[in-house]
Amino acid sequence: MTTSPGQTAPENQSNLDNLTLARKEGWHSFVQTSARQRPDTLTSKQIQALPDQERMAYDKLRRVWHANLGPLKTPQLAELHEDMWDIVDSNLQDGDKAKGAIAIDAFPGLGKTTAVLAFAKQFHLREVAEGGEFTPDGHERWPVCRVGLTGNTGLKDFNRAMLEFFAHPGSGYGTASQLGHRALDNMLSCHTRLLIIDDMHFLRWRMKNGVEISNHFKYIANEFPVTLLFVGVGLASRGLYSEGNSYTDAILAQTARRTTPLDMRPFAIDTDMGRREWRKILLALEQRLVLANSHPGMLADDLSDYLFARSTGHIGSLMTLINRGCQRAVRTGAERLDQALLDRVKNDAASEKARQELEAALQSRRITTRPKSKTT
Ligand SMILES: Nc1ncnc2c1ncn2[C@@H]1O[C@H](COP(=O)(O)OP(=O)(O)O)[C@@H](O)[C@H]1O
Ligand SMILES: [Mg+2]
Repeated sequence: MTTSPGQTAPENQSNLDNLTLARKEGWHSFVQTSARQRPDTLTSKQIQALPDQERMAYDKLRRVWHANLGPLKTPQLAELHEDMWDIVDSNLQDGDKAKGAIAIDAFPGLGKTTAVLAFAKQFHLREVAEGGEFTPDGHERWPVCRVGLTGNTGLKDFNRAMLEFFAHPGSGYGTASQLGHRALDNMLSCHTRLLIIDDMHFLRWRMKNGVEISNHFKYIANEFPVTLLFVGVGLASRGLYSEGNSYTDAILAQTARRTTPLDMRPFAIDTDMGRREWRKILLALEQRLVLANSHPGMLADDLSDYLFARSTGHIGSLMTLINRGCQRAVRTGAERLDQALLDRVKNDAASEKARQELEAALQSRRITTRPKSKTT
């Protein structure tokens, strides 16, 4: 057995994000956990009639529910998944061919991590359903290895993070390349097929070091049956897949040629199709809310312009606003979302800044979020 559960890595955990998903045990429970049970929607009367204890328990259930409303199947997420299946499945070619890599390159808060995790979960489940929990050699099967970077991470930390995912006892010593080889051997044993590097922009890489990293990924793509999935912000401008003419650029270009950039866009309301998508997502979202006084159209009809202005079409800002709004609606007993309540809820700074301009344009009816015909 190359991996032993329960072993903890001695150092450098600070360079990893979300500790639960940085380990295979956490990954396993993420993959195996079934969807949360939606709490029943009670009427205000029923809520008031609940004994204190039960009411507290009910509100707690709703707090957790509203804090975890996703993932919604947005068009952005669905498109990204289709593209990822195409690429990952076409990489199941024989070992000597270099594998195509994927780079998801978009601003924060557009749902990259959420979409990638949802994909990886499906991929893990499919591989295990097809091949079994164990490989023919008796190793645990881990179709996905996910590394999330924070801070300023070097190649050695990155290699160590791969080992830590597997709780490998050898993550604490060795040179960068020894750690790397150990991690990749381990991926071979565990039949890992997808290597996700989230928040890749934290990887230090310029000039000499950029060449080293590029070579490292080229080596992984050539020698190992894994699809590399880079996720981050401004990856193109960091030279992940830019082509140029200096020596360094030529080395970097080797990654460029086999990397497919995929995008995630914000919602936009400049076309009727965009407005329909916006409406659809609000309809899906309002159906998930568990508030006594909510009504059909509460978000999609009454708050469509308002929510667009406040989120500027960014799913992250929208979900933050709705989540916080629902917490307030439960806490205050309002049990519904409206503009007066949401006006009191703070959102992240970037969307607040863009909001004022958008609101002015929406109010003067220069633009609208409403589709011409409501198909739903
Ligand atoms: N499809 C989705 N459905 C529901 N919530 C989502 C969805 N995509 C993103 N979110 C929410 O938006 C926030 C930002 O998403 P995240 O995936 O972290 O974005 P990124 O990785 O691009 O910065 C998260 O809190 C997440 O819960
Ligand atoms: Mg992210």
